Formats: sequence, structure tokens, C-alpha cells
Amino acid sequence: MRGNRVLSNIVAGQAVHERYGGVVPELASRAHQKHIVPVVHDALAAAGISTAELEAIAFTEGPGLMGSLLVGGSFAKGLAISLGTPLVAVDHMMAHVLAHFIHDDEKSSPTFPFLCLTVSGGHTQLVLVRSALDMEVVGHTLDDAAGEAFDKAAKLLNLGYPGGPRIQQLAENGNERAFTFSTPNVGSFDFSFSGIKTSFLYLVQREMKNDPEFLEKRMSDLCASYQRHLVDYLLARLRQAAIHFGVNDLALAGGVSANAHLRDRFASLANELNMRSHIPAFQYCTDNAAMIGMAAQFKLQHGELAGLDTTTKARMKF
Ligand code: KG4
Ligand code: ZN
Repeated sequence: MRGNRVLSNIVAGQAVHERYGGVVPELASRAHQKHIVPVVHDALAAAGISTAELEAIAFTEGPGLMGSLLVGGSFAKGLAISLGTPLVAVDHMMAHVLAHFIHDDEKSSPTFPFLCLTVSGGHTQLVLVRSALDMEVVGHTLDDAAGEAFDKAAKLLNLGYPGGPRIQQLAENGNERAFTFSTPNVGSFDFSFSGIKTSFLYLVQREMKNDPEFLEKRMSDLCASYQRHLVDYLLARLRQAAIHFGVNDLALAGGVSANAHLRDRFASLANELNMRSHIPAFQYCTDNAAMIGMAAQFKLQHGELAGLDTTTKARMKF
């Protein structure tokens, strides 16, 4: 990163997860170890930057899988020691939100305070963002994350991992009103996805009993209806919170914000509420290093450096 601009953003795919229909933590950390040196090398080469020019090294402090976090944290510390540069520790969930401040194009950034719906494979949060480093989670999931609701349904349908993009693709020509699922009603601005996932499972089991070829015949209707239901559920909560907090700007973040249906419907909701909508560029929705770099810029500006004794954390709160 140079300021708010991305000089290079290299993502190492972890094809290893495809084979098991999900992330196996031990395999993930081994893949990180294998990829980290070539990825850093490629990033510097693509940016046309030498290590001597680096002014700070950022890494993800958490939350996430401990093995993978340890690989990144240890590597960043080693690099910072060898170059004598400051180190910045970044919260992964804050970074998803701050991806909105990357200026690759003329897209405008949200104005504070804004409300962000962060939807990823591990988290579902409604975040009230007062400033870059002052955020409050005002609603969150009590069980599964929105991305997991996609991934687990896809696994049941044998569609592979990650499930979100596969369900979106199959939903394209389907009837989104063909099937209905449960709508859990939990308190305030919180979410629950486990009941929706179970109602999906029961529906598939029931229909398969009636017609063993149900999945072959109705796959796109099933995916379209499920995708619509998850988006309806997310946006109903966002709508309540947006009105309650009276913000002027709404933002979307996290891997699930790559979903085309969610992006469209989110923009329509903001329009209807007379609020501005902010959707990250596709490459900054799913996990990426640019958003970590962007968050680190804010922390650097505020002098928030990390010591070498900073430990990575599986769980974090901001
Ligand atoms: O933010 P992310 O890359 O990783 C985590 O921090 O968890 O989010 C990954 C999640 C996965 O659950 C994946 O299925 C979902 O984002 N996802 C999508 C789409 N692309 C990725 N979900 C729905 N539609 C998509 N197009
Ligand atoms: Zn993420």
C-alpha cells in the first residue's frame, strides 16, 4: 500500500480446502507456510518495491484460525526485525470494514458515522463505525455466520467449497419464490442462522423422500430460494438498525458481500431509505491483504504500533 492506494494485492488460493468440502485448520496453516514467502516476493515484485523501501509491516492479529495467524504473525515479526521497521497488528474484522477506504478508483468512501453489515465465513456483524478506529458491534450472530449458512447448504448439496459462489451461480435461472425457510426471531439486532440451515436440511430430506430426483430437477429453484431467504433475513435486520441509528451511509463488507444478489438488494434498500450505499470492489470482499494494509495505515497515523510481544488471537473484540 502507498497511502490509500494498493500497489499489489496477491492472494494465494487454498485449493486444498476443495477436497474436504471446508477448511481443515491444520492443512490451512501448512498451506500458509508454503505460500507466504513466494506471495510476499510476488507482492513486492508486482509493486516494484524493494524491502528497503518498506516503512512498516502489517499482519493480522486475529480473529481466525490460530495456526494460520501464527504463520503470518511470526513471519511479519521476523521481517520487521530484519528490516528494522515498525510492526502493526490489525483486527481482521475491522479490516473488512476499512476496505472501504481503499482508493483504487473514484468510488467515494463512507462518511462517519456509518453502519456496516459485515458478512463472512466466520462472522456476521452489524457495526456502527464512528471513526476508522472507533467501531462498535451493535448486532451479531448467536450461532453460525452467514457465509457458513451458504457453505453448509452447499456441502449438503455436494457443491464443493466455498459454497457461496456455487449457490449464487446455480441460483441464476431459478425461481426465488419456489421454497420457504424459517425466519429466526432473536433479540435486538442479532442474527441466528442455525435454524435456517436446519429448515433447509429438512426441506431437502422431505422432498427427496417424495421424489429421489428432486435435486436434479429443482437445484436452481432451491438455490435461488435459499439465497433470497438469507439476503431477506440479513437486510431486514440491517433496515431496522439503519432506521434506529439514523445514519446517512450504509456499507457492506466481508466475503458474502461478493454475492451479486446481496449487492443489488443492499443498494436498493439504501436507496429506499434515502441513504448512501457503499459496496467494496469485488477483490476486497473476500479475504485479502490490501484491507489489512489499509487498516494498518489508519493505525500508523494514530501511532498504534505493535510490540514484538504481540500475540495472535483466535478471538478478538473491538
Ligand atoms: O471474508 P471471507 O473471505 O473469509 C472469512 O473471513 O471468513 O468470507 C468467506 C465466505 C465463505 O463462507 C464464502 O462462501 C462466502 O464468503 N462467499 C460468498 C460469495 N463469495 C464468497 N457467499 C455468497 N455469495 C458469494 N458470491
Ligand atoms: Zn474475512
